[in-house]
Amino acid sequence: MRVTMIGTGYVGLVSGACFADFGHVVTCVDKDEGKIASLKRGVMPIYEPGLEDLVEKNVKEERLFFTTDPTDAIRNADAVFIAVGTPSRRGDGHADLSYVFAAAEEIADLMQGYTVVVTKSTVPVGTGDEVEARIKKRRPDAEFAVVSNPEFLREGAAINDFKRPDRVVVGTHDERARGVMNELYRPLFLNETPILFTERRTSELIKYAANAFLALKITYINEMADLCEAVGANVQEVARGIGLDNRIGGKFLNAGPGYGGSCFPKDTLALVRTAQEAGAPVSIVETVVKVNDARKKSMAKKIIDALGGDVNGKTVAVLGLTFKPNTDDMRDAPALDIIPALQAAGAKVRAFDPEGMAEARQMLRDVTFAKNPYECLDGADAMAIITEWDQFRALDWDRVKGALKAPVIIDLRNIYNAGEIAARGFQYVSIGRPPKQA
Ligand SMILES: NC(=O)c1ccc[n+]([C@@H]2O[C@H](COP(=O)([O-])OP(=O)(O)OC[C@H]3O[C@@H](n4cnc5c(N)ncnc54)[C@H](O)[C@@H]3O)[C@@H](O)[C@H]2O)c1
Repeated sequence: MRVTMIGTGYVGLVSGACFADFGHVVTCVDKDEGKIASLKRGVMPIYEPGLEDLVEKNVKEERLFFTTDPTDAIRNADAVFIAVGTPSRRGDGHADLSYVFAAAEEIADLMQGYTVVVTKSTVPVGTGDEVEARIKKRRPDAEFAVVSNPEFLREGAAINDFKRPDRVVVGTHDERARGVMNELYRPLFLNETPILFTERRTSELIKYAANAFLALKITYINEMADLCEAVGANVQEVARGIGLDNRIGGKFLNAGPGYGGSCFPKDTLALVRTAQEAGAPVSIVETVVKVNDARKKSMAKKIIDALGGDVNGKTVAVLGLTFKPNTDDMRDAPALDIIPALQAAGAKVRAFDPEGMAEARQMLRDVTFAKNPYECLDGADAMAIITEWDQFRALDWDRVKGALKAPVIIDLRNIYNAGEIAARGFQYVSIGRPPKQA
């Protein structure tokens, strides 16, 4: 199959490289000239484990191409994927569909012969209808089908998620399009991945329903963590105790500073708006959004409290900035709420992140960026872990103690054993675990 990706970001690039690895011939298109130039030089514009090798292999074997000019790529394609961003629209939380519609119109102008237009971007219910209407209006003669195929990959594990997904969801009632989609995902039949064919609107909603459910699960355990702190219980054991129940499941039950990232915050908001407009409000998701926003803000207070209630003139060493490990993505990361709140209270912030600092520099002010964890800790009044990168799990504690001005650790990801850290003479604050265990 000849596949074209419109948008070569986290989703477009990973999906494109994986489809090429399945044996299809893929062209990834992006308007960002810098991104395409860098890909042509073999330099990845994002950090994603395993991506560079996968791209290199498929470029070498002439199945993966990059361009800023969509003309030939769209003309010759069996399937054109729309994988552009759908950020929150400022002010009302709706998904901003301007990139999706612009891509659809470009496709309309260029496509030749029967073409399957696949929306991989996360888009509100009914967007497929609108994309179809816009293409039809521009090209009444065109032969095409608009299919919904939401993406469920997670940054940091994106290649494995794409190649071994829990399921693939395809929304279409067009038999020919169904055939093309089956062919595209054929390699997944070998490992018996469930492929769920459904109506386009249902497919669009599945993506939001899934993300909102996961956001809810995280928010639930975060509130349980607060309750644990108030009553002297241990949230990690509560999570294990409930997660062993198959009906609940143990994943997404790690209490932390609140969810962030490029998907959950905007997708929960967009679902809330869609549901309100449809006259069927999802009040449980509305509450999740409110609770999570408040939680991200309250994390700065937790750090300030650990420093005796006053951080004026003090230095906080922040380890981890990205919204989760193994990505360089800073979009809606809790660090973006926590650090400015610490600064507003008078703290100086020094930070280190293995992959996120280039992006963080554009988004944070007056932060000193360190070259490694120990430089970050040097002379600081406390160390705060915001993102659980593996390298922070195995720090040299003597060096840590020697570097810090005061032995205070605030661990917003519960990556350490409270008793062990306390035994090393640190004052240790974590999430939802009683201090007496420290
Ligand atoms: N990032 C994730 O983990 C993830 C997971 C599942 C779904 N999604 C969804 O996938 C979509 C894309 O997300 P992303 O994180 O890859 O976004 P991104 O911002 O990393 O990439 C989008 C790319 O599209 C390009 N673009 C925009 N308009 C274009 C056009 N007309 N022609 C060519 N290129 C164009 C941009 O330059 C950018 O490089 C979103 O709807 C998102 O919600 C993301």
